[in-house]
Amino acid sequence: MTRDEARKKIIFALDVPGMAEVRKWAELLSNKVGMFKIGKQLFTACGPEAVRAIRATGGEVFLDLKYHDIPNTVAMATVEAARLGVQLCNLHALGGYEMMATTMETLRKQCGDNRPKVLAVTILTSSNQQTLAEIGIETPISDQVVRLAKLARRAGIDGVVASPQEVPMIRAACGSDFLIVTPGVRPLFASADDQKRIMTPAEAVSAGADYLVIGRPISAHNDPALACNLIIDEIVAGKAVL
Ligand code: C5P
Repeated sequence: MTRDEARKKIIFALDVPGMAEVRKWAELLSNKVGMFKIGKQLFTACGPEAVRAIRATGGEVFLDLKYHDIPNTVAMATVEAARLGVQLCNLHALGGYEMMATTMETLRKQCGDNRPKVLAVTILTSSNQQTLAEIGIETPISDQVVRLAKLARRAGIDGVVASPQEVPMIRAACGSDFLIVTPGVRPLFASADDQKRIMTPAEAVSAGADYLVIGRPISAHNDPALACNLIIDEIVAGKAVL
């Protein structure tokens, strides 16, 4: 794999509260990572301006708003995401087949090939078996994750967000052209923070992940651009380097 291919796999989690920080990170990392992930905190604080600021520096955007609503509402939200020019957006597979299929049909009809890839969230990794039992789901979590990933694929969704441990079983169930994006990635030089079941970048890529969401190992490093280069080195080498 080339360094540029490895760089494109890195999605930087832009977990910041305001536009000053957005501009700072966009400038610092635009040619060091493949994409910037804008989630609910930043989007609630700054809205589409945050997306536009990244796009203005040539950066690509994963709009991580995890839509879960009636089919028409989710479909039209993704059309607006497409108009903003994001490359990836996502929804909850728990919204069901019709919600996912309507979204993909509407996006294709209104945006053609000029549309973001849509990912499904299966079961949040913050949930455990008890969380599911409380809402009436008795299925073992890993079965539920695979079930939702297959449902998403059948509805025409492009891929899923999954924990590193789930990557092999989703890859086996959904095939090689289904995108898998994984957070919970920690290079050896970084601390685990609050992430629990972690993998190194090289491990996550060899397990079958297409993209890695990485936040604090880059943002908390005293030289964030160097942290990106070290992660790229590791992905290219296919093994952890210190
Ligand atoms: O700083 P860190 O690398 O842990 O950031 C990971 C990013 O991925 C954060 O934005 C976090 O909210 C997100 N995420 C996660 N685990 C999930 C889903 C999303 O850490 N299961």
